[in-house]
Amino acid sequence: MTVLVIAEDEDREFLVEPGEEFGTDLGVLEVPEGVEPGAVIETHLGTAFRVRRLRGPDLFHHFERTGAPMIPRDVGLVIGETGVSVDDRVLDAGTGTGVLAASMARAGASILTYERDPEFAEVARENMALANVSDAVEVRTGDVLEAVEAGTFEAPFDVLTLDTEDAPSVVERAPDLLVDGGFVAVYSPFIESTRAVAGTAREVGLSGVRTHETIQREMQFDERGSRPSTAPVGHTGYLTIGRNG
Ligand SMILES: C[S@@+](CC[C@H](N)C(=O)[O-])C[C@H]1O[C@@H](n2cnc3c(N)ncnc32)[C@H](O)[C@@H]1O
Repeated sequence: MTVLVIAEDEDREFLVEPGEEFGTDLGVLEVPEGVEPGAVIETHLGTAFRVRRLRGPDLFHHFERTGAPMIPRDVGLVIGETGVSVDDRVLDAGTGTGVLAASMARAGASILTYERDPEFAEVARENMALANVSDAVEVRTGDVLEAVEAGTFEAPFDVLTLDTEDAPSVVERAPDLLVDGGFVAVYSPFIESTRAVAGTAREVGLSGVRTHETIQREMQFDERGSRPSTAPVGHTGYLTIGRNG
């Protein structure tokens, strides 16, 4: 299984395979076959690398990127607000890089995710293999709306997660796609589509519909004092939640 190696004194980390000979600018690493997380291995030039098991935020940093990946904080909000967990079935679109799909699978759910770009879908399948969740995530190439119209899957699902521009059209069908009490979570970087999603969710009778901007300020601690970072606060997006029934 792929592991992460982190240089102890340098700002460098790489994904490596057990048994691999890996060349870095800090020297060549011979990764032992049975290498365990926590081990320290040295390059032929003597730079020490600590071995780590891959966890969620590492996948965010090391997945091959296609569609704009959801950042770990926003993944946390989706999982926290919908309660995605073991034994849940989730319908997700669009897959994009697959950060959200992989994270929900690592929380124990089974995911059916749609990606309309065939190349993106192929990269997402490779990312699922890296995250060790290929058995729990089915990446289908295709348009989620067409799939909903054609009924090409077995509904209902426990949770519906959407990160696409056409999310309002899918939300329109949420009552048919979700179990009673199931959640829909829609992520969007823009106010216009967010407003359309919230309006549609109310029109089709979802309960508890609400939208939050997913903002967070980093704290800065230095010798002069403690305060929120003065670096610009980057906007990421809006998260709309609703519930069936
Ligand atoms: C912002 S990315 C999703 C990122 C993803 N949530 C993640 O965490 O990596 C949006 C993706 O949705 C795909 N997409 C847009 N509309 C779609 C649709 N109707 N059906 C399937 N995929 C769609 C795009 O090709 C793009 O890859």
